[in-house]
Amino acid sequence: MITIAVITLSDKGAAGQREDRSGQVVCDIAKDLGEVVYKKILPDEKKLIIRNLTELSDKGINLVLTTGGTGLSQRDVTPEATLEIADREIPGIAEAMRYTSLAKTPHAMLSRSVAVVRKNTLIINLPGSPKAASENLKAVLPALEHAVKKINGDTTECACHE
Ligand code: MTE
Repeated sequence: MITIAVITLSDKGAAGQREDRSGQVVCDIAKDLGEVVYKKILPDEKKLIIRNLTELSDKGINLVLTTGGTGLSQRDVTPEATLEIADREIPGIAEAMRYTSLAKTPHAMLSRSVAVVRKNTLIINLPGSPKAASENLKAVLPALEHAVKKINGDTTECACHE
């Protein structure tokens, strides 16, 4: 069973000034892939994000989905925090999210989301609005079970998978 953590990055959400609809939307979609064992709202504070991502990865969570903080405002630091703790990046995941999303809105190019691996944990940034988070996650969901297996040492031939 794939273990999943969902973190919402939002100053207003963390202060209780905005309902966290995006986190819930992400949880609802992610349930098809595994078990959501952790859900949290954090302010857009780089050090805090780094600490949480590091702890979740150290605990061996398979997949961490963040929502929010990928855009262009001064407080948007999710990609920077994610890259800072990354062992390596998986550019294709973010490329697929933006490519698919561009068919829906030109604003999709404004998300700076990254997808990375730290230890055995796959970390994927999603944009912050419920609609954007849902569209981005659905674009890559079909590849995530295979990604998690590979990250955790599956050595079976990829060519077998159609
Ligand atoms: N992607 C999809 N699929 N649908 C959207 O509506 N909104 C965009 C973009 N990605 C959007 C999307 C917008 S308007 C912004 S500003 C960026 O994501 C960054 O969002 P964030 O700062 O909330 O993370």
